[in-house]
Amino acid sequence: MFSFKITRIVCKNIFPSHFVNRRVLLLQSLNFTLRNARPDLLQSLPYANSSSSHHTSPEESTSYKFTKDTAKRLPTDILAKIIVAGLVGLLSLDLSFAWYWSKNNERLILKTLEKGTKPEAAVANEELVKRPLVVEHLKRIFNPNKNVSNYYMICGEHGAGKTTLTKIASKEVGKGVIYFDVPENPTIEKFGMALGQVLNFTFEEHISFTAQLINKILGIIPGRLNGFGIIFDNKAFDPNFSFIEKPRLEKWERVLEAFKRTSTLYKKKHDRPPVIIYDSISLLIPKYLEILDTLQDGAKKGADKREYVVVFVTSEGSVPGRMEQRSAWSRAKQPVIEIGDLSEEESMEYLTKKRKINEVEAKKLYKLVGGRIVELKSVADDFIAGQSFEVIKQSILTKVKKKFDSANLLRNQSNHEAGKRLIKVLLDSKEIDTDLFREYFKDEKYNEVLEANVFAYHPSRDCITFQSRSIEYYIRENVNIFIKQEL
Ligand SMILES: Nc1ncnc2c1ncn2[C@@H]1O[C@H](COP(=O)(O)OP(=O)(O)OP(=O)(O)O)[C@@H](O)[C@H]1O
Ligand SMILES: [Mg+2]
Repeated sequence: MFSFKITRIVCKNIFPSHFVNRRVLLLQSLNFTLRNARPDLLQSLPYANSSSSHHTSPEESTSYKFTKDTAKRLPTDILAKIIVAGLVGLLSLDLSFAWYWSKNNERLILKTLEKGTKPEAAVANEELVKRPLVVEHLKRIFNPNKNVSNYYMICGEHGAGKTTLTKIASKEVGKGVIYFDVPENPTIEKFGMALGQVLNFTFEEHISFTAQLINKILGIIPGRLNGFGIIFDNKAFDPNFSFIEKPRLEKWERVLEAFKRTSTLYKKKHDRPPVIIYDSISLLIPKYLEILDTLQDGAKKGADKREYVVVFVTSEGSVPGRMEQRSAWSRAKQPVIEIGDLSEEESMEYLTKKRKINEVEAKKLYKLVGGRIVELKSVADDFIAGQSFEVIKQSILTKVKKKFDSANLLRNQSNHEAGKRLIKVLLDSKEIDTDLFREYFKDEKYNEVLEANVFAYHPSRDCITFQSRSIEYYIRENVNIFIKQEL
């Protein structure tokens, strides 16, 4: 009975409730077995051998009483020892298991870093404009020396070719380069799973009961106590097992922690930091600013410790503006890398040599959309599919008109007059300072107009331009609305 109580007390205090039942059953059955085995056990002990003697002297009687008492107590002592030994065994098993899983994750990530993710660009080789200067520049960044103390930002308008060139350069460097593209319509769960998949992180971290228990007793916040090593650093704690409020780590945070730990090992082994590229980070805005900020803070930390290099790839929307305002911006390499449009020569080469369009038509298409590769590809596809230049032109101009509409720049819309004045200046100077732009569109209008993609912000030069050639084309086609003074 007493031993049964011990079993219950020990179990209740050591194991979370959902484990108690199973362990109590196990120990209860052990208890039962020993109690049933008691006669044999006692017989095998010399002082417990009462045999069948009926004559008992007073000494014998005392000795008999002593033996009986001892015999009564002994199984309890043995049982207690067995329980303690069992518990020590279980705890060591638990700790070793947690350690093993944590190490296993590091092993897998290290392997991934050593191989590199080598992403494939989605452009057929025969259609690819090589852009060797940009690719070489990116390759130098993806192949850092051991003392690099910055992180990087690659910017460019939508469809300028950032993803394609980043993938090409990271595949060519290969080892030590992780390419991660933020999934579309991200959620916290989706983001974490995708990041885990890229790094080959298994989410099967073992939950150390021992660590949980000690946390419970000491009130330690999971993952914040490093001195106890991997068990506490494991962070795979059962969020329900606590009396105190504890921050629960999300999947993406667990992956990032494991990546950081593994980067230290990688740097030690290869004498250079690994590189992690986060592409399409604008998808995190506006809902997941917290993730973006954490990634930026992590990038600063990695740079300061020289243990890993972070590269952000983003379109020129509100992301660079936000990142620039944070203190972590001080470690971003300046100027930011900007991937611009193809030159006229590159664009003509693409249309005539890669897409086999005759020179006259190619020139007209280039004048319509300029060197933005995504637009060049689109008009080339349409032209090759048999559409006339006029039809293609109308379709492009309709798309541009929609952008003007959402920026409220059309006739009788709220930003029309300020927009007209700005357009005149921009047609002459091609770019204006951001401060000057703010004088046309103040406060919330600033973002409203910029986000409509009529104008583009360039962080590397802190200036504003038209967003693309097709915007200028639309303005020139609508001189009456935007340029001529109304009588
Ligand atoms: N160098 C190139 N040669 C040929 N086609 C290209 C090249 N670069 C990009 N493209 C094509 O242009 C399109 C846009 O490219 P990409 O996705 O790399 O642009 P992006 O700047 O990453 O765009 P977003 O900002 O929307 O992510 C793709 O269809 C791609 O196949
Ligand atoms: Mg992209």
